[in-house]
Amino acid sequence: MKPETIAIHQPVTRRDGAVAPPIHLSTTYQHGPANEPINGYIYVRHDNPNVSDFEARIAALEGGVAGIAFSSGMAAAAAMLMSLPSGARAVLHNDLYFDVKTLAREDLPKRGVSVDFVDFCDPEASAAALSKEAALVWLETPSNPKIDLIDIQKVAAMAAGAGAKVIVDNTFATPALQNPLALGADYVLHSATKYMGGHSDVQGGAIVVRDDHAFAESLGKFRTLTGGVLAPFNAWLISRGIQTLYCRMEQHCRNAETIAAMLNNHPAVAAVRYPWLEKSPGCAIARRQMKAGGGMVSFELKGGRNAALKAASKLRLFINATSLGGVESLVEHRASLEGPGTTTPEALLRLSVGLEHVDDLVADLTQALA
Ligand SMILES: Cc1ncc(COP(=O)(O)O)c(C=O)c1O
Repeated sequence: MKPETIAIHQPVTRRDGAVAPPIHLSTTYQHGPANEPINGYIYVRHDNPNVSDFEARIAALEGGVAGIAFSSGMAAAAAMLMSLPSGARAVLHNDLYFDVKTLAREDLPKRGVSVDFVDFCDPEASAAALSKEAALVWLETPSNPKIDLIDIQKVAAMAAGAGAKVIVDNTFATPALQNPLALGADYVLHSATKYMGGHSDVQGGAIVVRDDHAFAESLGKFRTLTGGVLAPFNAWLISRGIQTLYCRMEQHCRNAETIAAMLNNHPAVAAVRYPWLEKSPGCAIARRQMKAGGGMVSFELKGGRNAALKAASKLRLFINATSLGGVESLVEHRASLEGPGTTTPEALLRLSVGLEHVDDLVADLTQALA
């Protein structure tokens, strides 16, 4: 079956014939006198039918043996980072979602895990970093917010030589545009808060494991014990979002491609970062490993920080707000949000291009950049 079809149909056949799945709010399930599960479920922190539904969908769409759902993308990231034993070494791309970077930098060393940040767009720097043993390589491609493109296949081959597993945060691309497990990654991470939910009204996360059943089980156990489980209603909303993910992504990509081209020809713009734009760094990699460029566009203004803030304040349809992947267009000056320690250029604005008519979005950007 094609992924567009898998995304729409319920992975678990329901006995009551309901076409749309119900929401299972019960926290507890009847079991036998010696705790024997009767219908497969015991307690909401362990598992829940809506959570199972989402996990089955995301595992199938990413091509892994198991999906483990979490209460947020950060809960998923934390579970992965906390799985590293003392003495291990983690090597992370130097442009990552800021909170993941902060968690790795501040928390891992306290647990005896050493952390190196490397530019995985640079083949020599990547080879040097992976000439030493490592336990985990963490990539985001396209990255947040610089839209770096990393060759997953090449880094996975180098990581194998260093004895490292590879995790790819696939939040920006989604499984509709990129399947890291098929390119050699061991794990995929998602903030389902973004394109999967798709409507800026639900938080969730997931890790999909390619083939290591034992590791999937240990992640699930960690989630149960630490309580970072996805709520049933959130799981239901995310599964509903996934049903329209593939057709939403087509329109996000079409709109973003038009906007990237428009910005690329604008005299006030110094640089545009968009995977499908030929002038953008890493375009050749994107065209090899993605189906289209996605909905995220970052660009730098010639006038630096002041010009970026002025343009952001003049935008009307693009809402000044954090997050991404919803139906509405958003703009963000990431350096302001990230604060001290940011490596994001002050001149950079990040756009989450929504599903509005592209003519209206282009008109909004044109008036804001005038
Ligand atoms: C690429 C990426 N990964 C992970 C996260 C964390 O996800 P959440 O906000 O659901 O915890 C985000 C949040 O913005 C993100 O952009």
